[in-house]
Amino acid sequence: MFLQNAIPAETADLATAAGLPRPGTARSIIEFERVAVAYGRDAAATQALAESSFRIDEGDFIALVGPSGCGKSTILKLVAGLLKATSGHVFVARREVGAEDVRIGMAFQNPTLLPWLSIRKNVMLPLKIAHPFRKDWRQKRNGEYRDRADALLAKVGLLDFADKFPWQLSGGMQQRASLCRALIHEPTLLLLDEPFGALDQFTREELWATLQTLWMERRPTVLLVTHDLRESAFLANRIMVMSARPGRILVDERVDFPRPRTLDTTVQPEFTNLTHALRGLIVAARSGAGGQS
Ligand SMILES: Nc1ncnc2c1ncn2[C@@H]1O[C@H](COP(=O)(O)OP(=O)(O)OP(=O)(O)O)[C@@H](O)[C@H]1O
Ligand SMILES: [Mg+2]
Repeated sequence: MFLQNAIPAETADLATAAGLPRPGTARSIIEFERVAVAYGRDAAATQALAESSFRIDEGDFIALVGPSGCGKSTILKLVAGLLKATSGHVFVARREVGAEDVRIGMAFQNPTLLPWLSIRKNVMLPLKIAHPFRKDWRQKRNGEYRDRADALLAKVGLLDFADKFPWQLSGGMQQRASLCRALIHEPTLLLLDEPFGALDQFTREELWATLQTLWMERRPTVLLVTHDLRESAFLANRIMVMSARPGRILVDERVDFPRPRTLDTTVQPEFTNLTHALRGLIVAARSGAGGQS
């Protein structure tokens, strides 16, 4: 695969020095075994995901990219247990989805904050709902849980806005609060569906750094869906490129740039080579050429 040529060997060595996981050394947390999805039945069915098998290691950071409608959100929904596979098996933490008790955090393209709750209360919401936090909710909501929310809000520069309502914040600020909410219950798995899609370039790049810091500190497994190739190369350890619908994984590549990555990283030739190569693949995938290989 020509993408491998885009990443010089010395960056791989730096990655080892930075303590990044090597392929095959960690335990896998997500396993897709010949999973396919069709929406609807019989003649009216839309084949969304072609039979796909892959594994994702614990603590890894994956970017999922591909043409619109290829099944990226479908994959996130399968992992979250919001959707059942038409065939095949989805395992999360070595249990088939539906039976497991894994903590999952999610954030979507549009911040989905509740308008009648303050920013702090929005961020605290998973602690009120999710096991095992909910049993201590009454006891801790004005103490430990509140402190936990404030610590996260401080990290993304929103502590001064904790008592404001979502509509009093800009889109970027709301998206930051959504990230805090996705992280507050210290999820093992963080599912992000184009979380920065609606933001301007500057805010988006700021949030890349924020997300990278949060990931480096807590090391959840992240599955990020994005259309932004620079974003995938900046954030991910591994990029999976999908074909047009019915989607399947066309390319699965490690990205071993050392961490923490900065905006300087994005102007290095290795980085721009990688994003150019990815762009070529997506163009081929959109036109269907990639799907035949
Ligand atoms: N509830 C549904 N009912 C019927 N078809 C659906 C449903 N949800 C998705 N699809 C179809 O399945 C395919 C994959 O959808 P999915 O939402 O996973 O795409 P995506 O890769 O996330 O696209 P985008 O980049 O535009 O968000 C699409 O072609 C879509 O038309
Ligand atoms: Mg989608």
